[in-house]
Parts: sequence; C-alpha cells; structure tokens
Amino acid sequence: MPLVAVIATLLSANDLSRIVGGTVVTDQQRVPYMTAVGIVDRGRFMHICGGTLISSRLVLTAAHCIAVHRERLLESGVVFIGQTAPSDAKSAINISQVHIHPRFSEASLHMDVGAVRLAHSAPKTRTPALPSVDSTYAGRYASILGWGTVAEGSSLLSHQLLEAVVPVDAECGRYAAELITPSMICAGAPGKDACQGDSGGPLLMCDTPNGCEVIGVTSWGNGCARRDFPGVYAKVFPARDWL
Ligand code: ARG
Repeated sequence: MPLVAVIATLLSANDLSRIVGGTVVTDQQRVPYMTAVGIVDRGRFMHICGGTLISSRLVLTAAHCIAVHRERLLESGVVFIGQTAPSDAKSAINISQVHIHPRFSEASLHMDVGAVRLAHSAPKTRTPALPSVDSTYAGRYASILGWGTVAEGSSLLSHQLLEAVVPVDAECGRYAAELITPSMICAGAPGKDACQGDSGGPLLMCDTPNGCEVIGVTSWGNGCARRDFPGVYAKVFPARDWL
C-alpha cells in the first residue's frame, strides 16, 4: 500500500474508533436495503434517520423519527436506498405515507417502530427477513449501520455509511429497569454504539437460518458508546403482524 493510503487508513480508523467503533461500508451491495430517510430542503437532502427496506415499497424506521418530523416528511420526505453516500438526487424516492405503530409511546419510546411507504417501488433488491421467533439473542452479535453523528454531543453526521458489530446485552447494562419495556432489546459495548442520526436503522442478526434478519430498530441510548449504557433498540418481532 502506498504511504498516503496507509496514512489515510490510519486517520480514518482513528476517526471511527471515537464514534461507534465502526468501519466504513464501502460495498453497498452488502447491505442494499440500508436506507437513509430525510427531507429535501431547497434542493438539498437533509438526513433525518436510518431505515431498512423490507419490501418493494416499505421502509422500516423508528416511530420517533416520524413523530418528530411528520409534517416535513409528508411534504418533502425522500429515501435513498442502498447508497453508501446518499447524494444523487435522481435516485431519491419520494415518501407517500408515514405510519407509526399504534402502541408507540412517545414518553417511554415503547414500540418505537414506524414505516414509510414509498411513492413508487424501489429497484428490485435483497431485503432482510423479519424475525420469525421471539428470542433474547443473549450473548449473540448483531450489526448496526448508519450515518449518525461521529461522537456523542457532536452534530456532525457521517457522510459515509458506518457499521459496527455489537454484542446483545440481555441485561441492558445499568439502565433503570423501568426504562426498559418488553419491546426493547439492548446491544453495545464500551466504544461501540449507535448515536444521534442512526435512529431508525437496523439491528441485524445474520447468523440465522434465514440469513440476515432485522431484529431491531435503533431507538435510544444514554449518550453514545458509554460503559454500562448500551444502545436500546425497538424489537421488530412484536411489530411483525403490524408490518
Ligand atoms: N435517538 C437517536 C436518533 O434519533 C438514536 C440514539 C441511539 N443512541 C445510542 N446510544 N445507541 O438518532
């Protein structure tokens, strides 16, 4: 490798370890269903949340992403599907409808599952399966993906899609028990986590007989990547029938 490339790699690796401890996804074919949800404002894409394409016209995301931005999403909402760096306006797909799970609670973030319907079908691609069993996934590893902020407290989104592999934490770290409802699942390790702007994106379990399953939706956390405070994800299984 030429020296400049080595330095560039080191710099970016260093950058990443500050955030979610992730790596840059360079091959968009690995996660062709990964979606950026946002709005077009004066011709420019403004990222709101992550999402996952689960059928030709439906993108799974977090209910709170929709609750907070409902009007703007209905007015000028778009998605980019399968692009590691959303940019080319021509490939944006308009949002036609938004849906929030009927049992979503804005106060507790219980059932933080939502969906956006696309104005036309996404280009044909692979989508992850929905989970077929309700499992705790204790001790297993899952992938998280997003363009979220590069450090806790930062307002800078990542312009590249990042991915991290995180252990499921069946105990949910040290969160007070009353904060964690049965619709939530925790995953993360110190230095590895989702952060602001990653909400709505998938928690993917890929070592299943069905290939990758989207078992969770990025929902909330106390800070980002803190010891004892893993990321909290909305479980997809209890929302399966609704989807
Ligand atoms: N609520 C955040 C969002 O809207 C996601 C936060 C996830 N935080 C975490 N530490 N895992 O983007």
